[in-house]
Amino acid sequence: MLPNSTGFWALLISVSMLALFSSACLESHADARLSKSDEEMAKRVILNNDCGLCHTLQARGLNLTGKIGPDLTEQAHRNRSPQWLQGQLTNPVSIPDHEVVPGFEGKQKLMPKFNRTSQRELNAVIEFLRSLN
Ligand code: HEC
Repeated sequence: MLPNSTGFWALLISVSMLALFSSACLESHADARLSKSDEEMAKRVILNNDCGLCHTLQARGLNLTGKIGPDLTEQAHRNRSPQWLQGQLTNPVSIPDHEVVPGFEGKQKLMPKFNRTSQRELNAVIEFLRSLN
């Protein structure tokens, strides 16, 4: 059955509202992207804390080649939430075996707690990791 003309316009308006709304969401997502200075901060923190002793990370000018933990080069693909990453970084043993990268079960205790840092630096590292694709 064809919609009457009021129904048609109502439908058209809701479809355009939806399109506007979703493009606004995409934009706000883009706004949440890491600033250049936060990216520099994150890289400095990662270098100063020797994450590269254990992790490979070959992106954004970093050349880390560790093999004890999972490769972080495309970390964004793991779709970890900021909260999850904060748990992983500040208290690795809090991550249950079924959530770690396959092959690294039971190795949470190897990673040192990264918790003597400011929340700002922690957030920069988290967003940096989430941007690596
Ligand atoms: C002494 C070795 C070691 C050091 C140093 C280390 N890690 Fe890890 N890391 C591991 C191991 C082993 C795992 C895998 C077990 C786990 O998930 O806890 C891991 C897991 C991770 C994960 C989880 C990846 C995922 O999505 O499952 C992230 C993110 C991470 N490390 C980031 C870092 C960062 C950032 C640093 C530096 C602040 C760091 N690590 C320092 C050994 C290390």
